[in-house]
Amino acid sequence: MLIKRPSDIPSSEITPESVYRNRRTFLKTAAIMTAGTAAAFALPRFSEPQDPHYRRPPAGPFNTDEDLTSYKDITTYNNFYEFGTDKDDPSEYAGSLKPRPWKVRVDGEVEKAGLYDLDDLLKGISQEDRVYRLRCVEGWSMVIPWLGFPISVLLKRFQPTSRAKYVEFTTLNDPQQMPGLSRPVLDWPYVEGLRIDEAMHPLAIFAVGLYGKQLPNQNGAPLRIVVPWKYGFKSCKSIVRIRLTEKEPLPTWVRAAPHEYGFYSNVNPDVDHPRWSQKFERRIGEFRKRRTQLFNGYGEQVAGLYAGMDLRKHF
Ligand code: MTE
Repeated sequence: MLIKRPSDIPSSEITPESVYRNRRTFLKTAAIMTAGTAAAFALPRFSEPQDPHYRRPPAGPFNTDEDLTSYKDITTYNNFYEFGTDKDDPSEYAGSLKPRPWKVRVDGEVEKAGLYDLDDLLKGISQEDRVYRLRCVEGWSMVIPWLGFPISVLLKRFQPTSRAKYVEFTTLNDPQQMPGLSRPVLDWPYVEGLRIDEAMHPLAIFAVGLYGKQLPNQNGAPLRIVVPWKYGFKSCKSIVRIRLTEKEPLPTWVRAAPHEYGFYSNVNPDVDHPRWSQKFERRIGEFRKRRTQLFNGYGEQVAGLYAGMDLRKHF
């Protein structure tokens, strides 16, 4: 029997001719596009979005003046496992999430427990643009212009009791709206927690939008938290429950892998994840690696929260 080696077979033989011809055209076009892409890289990639109404706030304690990550990257490179585990799954599948009407249950150690309508909660709360870094545990980061307000503004309204030491946040758990829940990737629903003084810190916000627009579903609509000095997984999305507790909550990732993820999860280049270093990060849209900063660069504001604590033990 004569077996042809792959190199003996002209591609015109194994591929129907029309496809083969199209492929040649495609390859030619690809070569031209590559040349075009090289030129595009010379242009500033982090320009303001096309939305002419968005004006980034001036640099200040709540706003970094670093280049913004593009709206496209922020909304198509996501972690939201309720919609799948690939980075582009949330933007593709989160259309089934209905961010209105939206109820939030508030319970535990508060005087004003109840089931609240989100729009009622948002009445009278002024929203501000805050340009924060988001640093993910996997070593990538973005600079995102959030629209939101301090978590403390809402928590104070619920009147925490003197026993309230922690705040637990829970994501929606509805398989009708979140197709990824049918797979046991994590122990659903997604839960996160903060110590109450962390939650009350002015840098910790509830986000309801980004780039001056409503929060897209894939970024955690209609309500998510952003805690810029912690790894991104603390930023619990699409929140339906806020519970004040006396005991430390058990976040989903700590439950899943306690030796890999700790309750605090402060960005810390000196404490490696057991499977990879946390010393460097890559800004989405850039090639070079940057050195990761302690507390994601917010040390001046938040280091005092951890005075006297061993950050290797309380990772
Ligand atoms: N919240 C829920 N409910 N489910 C998730 O899978 N992923 C977390 C966090 N919040 C996640 C979540 C992780 S790992 C990160 S890095 C951030 O969301 C990503 O937020 P972004 O997609 O808006 O950048």
